[in-house]
Amino acid sequence: MKIDGKPFRSIWRDDAGEVRIIDQRWLPHELRIVPLDSREDFATAIRDMWVRGAPLIGATAAYGVACQMRRDASDAALSETWEILHATRPTAINLRWALDEMDRVLRPLPPGDRAAAAFRRADEIAEEDVEINRRIGENGLALIREIAAAKPDGAPVNILTHCNAGWPATVDWGTATSPIYHAMEAGIAVHVFVDETRPRNQGAQLTAWELNSAGVPHSLIVDNAGGHLMQHGEVDLVIVGTDRTTARGDVCNKIGTYLKALAAKANDVPFYVALPSPTIDWTVTDGLREIPIEERDGAEITHVQGRDDQGRITTVQISPDGTEGRNPAFDVTPAELVTGLITERGICSANADAMAQMFGDLKNA
Ligand code: MRU
Repeated sequence: MKIDGKPFRSIWRDDAGEVRIIDQRWLPHELRIVPLDSREDFATAIRDMWVRGAPLIGATAAYGVACQMRRDASDAALSETWEILHATRPTAINLRWALDEMDRVLRPLPPGDRAAAAFRRADEIAEEDVEINRRIGENGLALIREIAAAKPDGAPVNILTHCNAGWPATVDWGTATSPIYHAMEAGIAVHVFVDETRPRNQGAQLTAWELNSAGVPHSLIVDNAGGHLMQHGEVDLVIVGTDRTTARGDVCNKIGTYLKALAAKANDVPFYVALPSPTIDWTVTDGLREIPIEERDGAEITHVQGRDDQGRITTVQISPDGTEGRNPAFDVTPAELVTGLITERGICSANADAMAQMFGDLKNA
């Protein structure tokens, strides 16, 4: 996508081949680009959420392995790097997927061949992510087109989204935002309700920023407004991302997604999940019991970050001294609440049979 008219991705290799990222902790106030080199740099960037969003976490980990292979390409270094990067965040399955993929490609090679092969595969993983998201956009476009056709001429399709499943959460396009960008390109009027997404405000800070930059009409809402808007017929469609989707279609995503799905079900609003295939965890059937839910620092609840009148980025405390925050970062929406999964291969029902039919080759790989 573009920032100030210039094409940008969330992670890339510069002309010298070095890995660079947008440090997302400072958005929307500052665009800071930082290089990553050692595996410790990559682990910090993922753990401390300089990069975040399931697909981008995966791509970053792949580049982390590649950079390490330049320093030490031994079997031991390969295994240690897998462990170090895997320990950074527990919920998004793309992390394990990308690390396993790097291991699968590199392990059989002699150490001397590993660095070049690792960069090749990491570049491919990044490119594949872009292509997957582009296709999710095309498939989601058909859905938005259908909804638009049932509305009065020119009335926008109102889409609610939670967290940031936009291009900063992926290498490019985003998952939940890709259908929206494709609809804009196709001349379909859209308007997006952006959940602020407490506690880290990925909606307010990232989704609002990217939609604003792309000229997509949007309104920022507090996390609790969605149910009210749905009751009053103001939401035509919900599209969210996913950090891990089970073989039966349970969807683990940013905390609060489940409440949106309940409200959507109660109000007959279609609830879709934009799902790239590397985000499917075929080893898990019962999402509620088997997916590890990241518990983050309670200070993310008791404090908020913003920009003051002098333009300084600052953090302020909003609750009393002595009150502690409890901060589960993700929740699981049971498949029964999901209208459909927008994937790179088409739209799929959220159940084991439909998923196995669409992705049988991957399930059995
Ligand atoms: O904690 P985050 O910001 O990494 O959480 C991100 C989300 O929950 C996204 O919705 C999900 O990763 C899908 S991104 C295409």
